[in-house]
Amino acid sequence: MNTEIIKINRQNFHKEDLLFTAKAIREGKLVAFPTETVYGLGANALDAAACDAVFEAKGRPHDNPLIVHILRPEDASNFAYVDEEPLFWKLAEKFMPGPLTVILPKKDIIPDSVTVGLSTVALRCPNHPVARALIESAGVPIAAPSANLSGKPSPTSAEHVIEDMSGRISMIIDSGTCDVGLESTVISLKNGIVRLLRPGFVTFEDLKEICPTVEISSAVLENLTTTDKPESPGMKYRHYAPTAPVTMVRGDEENVLAFFRKALDEGFGVLCFNEDAKILLCEKENPNVICFGSKYDLLSQANGLFDALRRFDFLNVKKIYSRFTQHDHLGLAISNRLLRACAFDLMDV
Ligand code: TXA
Ligand code: MG
Repeated sequence: MNTEIIKINRQNFHKEDLLFTAKAIREGKLVAFPTETVYGLGANALDAAACDAVFEAKGRPHDNPLIVHILRPEDASNFAYVDEEPLFWKLAEKFMPGPLTVILPKKDIIPDSVTVGLSTVALRCPNHPVARALIESAGVPIAAPSANLSGKPSPTSAEHVIEDMSGRISMIIDSGTCDVGLESTVISLKNGIVRLLRPGFVTFEDLKEICPTVEISSAVLENLTTTDKPESPGMKYRHYAPTAPVTMVRGDEENVLAFFRKALDEGFGVLCFNEDAKILLCEKENPNVICFGSKYDLLSQANGLFDALRRFDFLNVKKIYSRFTQHDHLGLAISNRLLRACAFDLMDV
């Protein structure tokens, strides 16, 4: 299949620029598009065959449901029983549009191909202008997982999508890099209780400000086996992983840096903070050192993590050692992805 790449400048485009891609969505084709979190692989959420094709294109396991992207929180009631959960509106007021996905009891209009037969559907209103214009112009909700091959880090630029999806889908909209760099926060809502299933830019602390009870699913920081039946099926798979195995290294600054030095001498890869690279390299070049952001700036780490993980696949390293990251605020989302990238392999030094 020939994959067409369409460049859209997010700051300066006309709705007409998206008519062609919106029509493709309506016709059941697959279109990758930018969101504020990561690139999505979009299909008409009301078209079961198109949604089945998403699973094929990604090589996605058939028990992992898709998120449905809508324009406004008000649209949620077309697809889910929202009024059973008044907290939805409080959350919507504060976080929508934005990087928050809410799981609610689904209405029949959403095909089983989207929800893999579950009785719930995940809904999100993205806040990227191109994503919004595409949904509006298509006139249908858009089901979209991250636009990577299953198991690979999510794509934060069109180049990443091209790497994974070229030849597999009809079109890729290229609008540069994504603002957040990690996928949306996924929560379920039941009887006024919020459960955090996947941490993201909307943090546990942010949710606590609005909701009295926020529980963190054990899947966020613990290893589930493929036989577990998790609340969010995506959490049980090894994810975000470069080809070489990754181990997280925890300990005092000095010990970690000494360990990294030794690992580099042995030809291994090191995934570290910008500040570490300055110390480790002392002006010398070593491609095996890849930084994912500043030690002091969580957003820079979120922005850089998936690109850094992908870059290791272009190196010839047999093993990667990575920094350990903090578990609060946006750090929880970063640790959640890193722990999966390293299949929960952690060592203390
Ligand atoms: O930021 C994002 O959320 C991106 C962009 C494209 O919007 N999308 C994304 O989709 O990350 P995906 O498919 O890679 O991750 C969706 C997650 C999976 O872990 C899936 O198991 C969970 O949401 N999920 C979807 N529907 C669910 C449901 N009904 N119940 C529980 N978990 C659900
Ligand atoms: Mg994904």
